[in-house]
Amino acid sequence: MRLLCLLAALSFSAHAAAADSACATCHAAQTTHFRATPMALALEKVEASAILGSHPELTFQEGAYKSSISRSAGGSILTVSAGAETLTVPLLWAFGRGQAGQTYVFEYNGAMYESRVSFYNALRALDLTMGALNTRPRSLAEAAGRRMDSIGTRDCFGCHSNGAVSAGKLHLESIVPGVACESCHGPVEKHAEAARTGDAVGAKLPHLAALSAEELSDLCGRCHRTWSQIALNGPRGINNVRFQPYRLANSKCYDAADARIRCTSCHDPHGTLETNLAAYDSKCAACHATALHTKVCRVAKANCAGCHMPRVDLPGAHARFTDHQIRIARAGDPYPN
Ligand code: HEC
Ligand code: HEC
Ligand code: HEC
Ligand code: HEC
Ligand code: HEC
Ligand code: HEC
Ligand code: HEC
Repeated sequence: MRLLCLLAALSFSAHAAAADSACATCHAAQTTHFRATPMALALEKVEASAILGSHPELTFQEGAYKSSISRSAGGSILTVSAGAETLTVPLLWAFGRGQAGQTYVFEYNGAMYESRVSFYNALRALDLTMGALNTRPRSLAEAAGRRMDSIGTRDCFGCHSNGAVSAGKLHLESIVPGVACESCHGPVEKHAEAARTGDAVGAKLPHLAALSAEELSDLCGRCHRTWSQIALNGPRGINNVRFQPYRLANSKCYDAADARIRCTSCHDPHGTLETNLAAYDSKCAACHATALHTKVCRVAKANCAGCHMPRVDLPGAHARFTDHQIRIARAGDPYPN
């Protein structure tokens, strides 16, 4: 156990090891599996970005504005130029390590900015950040990025890291980049401390496996957005396909009290996403079997999610998302909302 945890600590960056090494001794499986997930890697310092390391010079032209991201000794530099004017700023943070791509955050004139261009895995190149799609830059600063207010900045780091927000304010000095054990399990220090002294029962953590489908959707929805957030504030239409708790709750399969339709019935919260669709068949069968009262498919006996959880191309994201509104999806039908 000790050797395993030493090896694991050595093969990952210092911050990840420092944050959860206190858990690895007793929960080796959860810890080592989780460290390799896009969630755990949802944020990194720019100097640690493997994407920027393997693409040392990226460029993008938008009208008169030319942007480039160049690797330098200490990190990566964003340069935006138009005519004789040039703006140069070091990038600080790289957001995103999953299927779509990576967006950068930098500091300029005392505020945090979200980069106007992002790296997209499908393109292996830069293109406009989704939020920038319907805007036009009017200055070098706007061509470099979108100025964020303090709440926007706080929320951005709040979902992609751990320990950076306390008492409603952003404290970058205590940030642990990426989603961490605490993000879902809450404060864990007392538990780890008590467990070390042989008193794990004295500092029990909330038993998440006992949460209902609705409670778990709300927990994951703190970052993946809850049903009520989307129902109240939108977005409407295809742009809400990314918000699984909302899409799932709109499906006829959803029952707030039925554990078989919980996020974690289909996803290991500590593991990487299963991409073999047949692996999900048993999850559907848990309800759609002849012995139960729910209906059975007359069309096929396998790969259920392939037809009933269609992939949707999200404009500007250069990635496809899985519609969690499980349904009979017929070609040409409008996107149900
Ligand atoms: C010295 C061993 C030890 C360490 C260190 C430790 N735990 Fe535990 N943990 C236990 C034991 C024993 C249990 C089962 C006891 C119980 O029923 O709560 C447990 C249970 C848990 C559970 C399950 C709670 C439930 O009922 O579903 C979670 C989650 C958990 N630990 C998270 C953590 C995290 C996160 C860390 C690191 C900050 C950590 N533990 C550190 C020993 C440890
Ligand atoms: C603290 C915020 C946070 C919470 C809570 C959270 N997630 Fe995530 N999750 C993220 C972020 C951020 C990403 C995107 C990571 C990336 O691609 O960089 C993500 C990505 C994912 C992915 C996609 C992984 C991939 O391979 O693309 C799955 C699946 C997922 N989360 C499931 C869950 C489930 C299930 C829960 C609840 C048990 C949950 N998440 C709770 C922030 C969170
Ligand atoms: C409410 C929580 C939340 C906030 C706020 C948030 N994100 Fe995310 N972000 C997520 C989740 C969850 C995912 C994964 C699912 C998805 O793609 O929507 C994600 C995905 C991403 C991805 C794509 C990663 C991939 O899968 O390729 C990027 C890039 C990203 N976020 C950047 C940002 C930046 C930059 C900000 C701040 C301007 C931000 N996010 C604010 C929760 C959040
Ligand atoms: C994205 C949310 C999320 C994160 C991050 C997360 N967990 Fe969990 N964890 C859960 C959920 C949900 C359960 C209950 C599993 C279920 O629903 O069946 C759980 C269960 C557990 C259990 C009980 C045994 C088991 O596997 O079911 C342990 C131990 C545990 N987690 C440890 C950890 C440790 C250590 C970390 C950090 C390395 C961590 N978790 C990170 C969501 C998370
Ligand atoms: C009935 C099974 C099922 C349930 C329940 C479920 N998912 Fe999924 N989920 C899937 C499938 C299938 C995929 C696509 C896997 C692949 O990429 O091949 C997926 C993909 C994802 C992804 C990756 C991004 C995407 O759109 O492809 C995220 C994030 C995610 N699910 C989050 C959640 C969250 C959060 C919940 C709970 C609200 C949830 N899922 C409940 C089956 C399920
Ligand atoms: C918690 C139990 C449960 C799970 C898990 C579940 N379903 Fe369902 N599903 C239902 C119920 C209940 C209905 C609606 C009642 C009925 O028609 O029998 C339904 C309806 C459907 C329908 C018809 C929808 C419509 O618009 O008429 C399809 C298709 C479907 N489910 C496919 C799936 C697939 C595919 C999966 C796995 C990815 C799945 N279901 C997982 C319970 C479930
Ligand atoms: C090749 C695509 C495809 C696959 C794969 C598939 N289905 Fe279907 N399913 C359909 C279509 C199309 C319909 C509507 C048929 C009709 O008009 O009656 C349907 C209907 C259904 C219904 C509603 C039945 C009713 O009586 O209203 C359920 C439930 C369902 N499927 C579940 C599943 C499950 C569970 C699986 C995996 C074992 C699955 N499907 C695999 C295409 C598919």
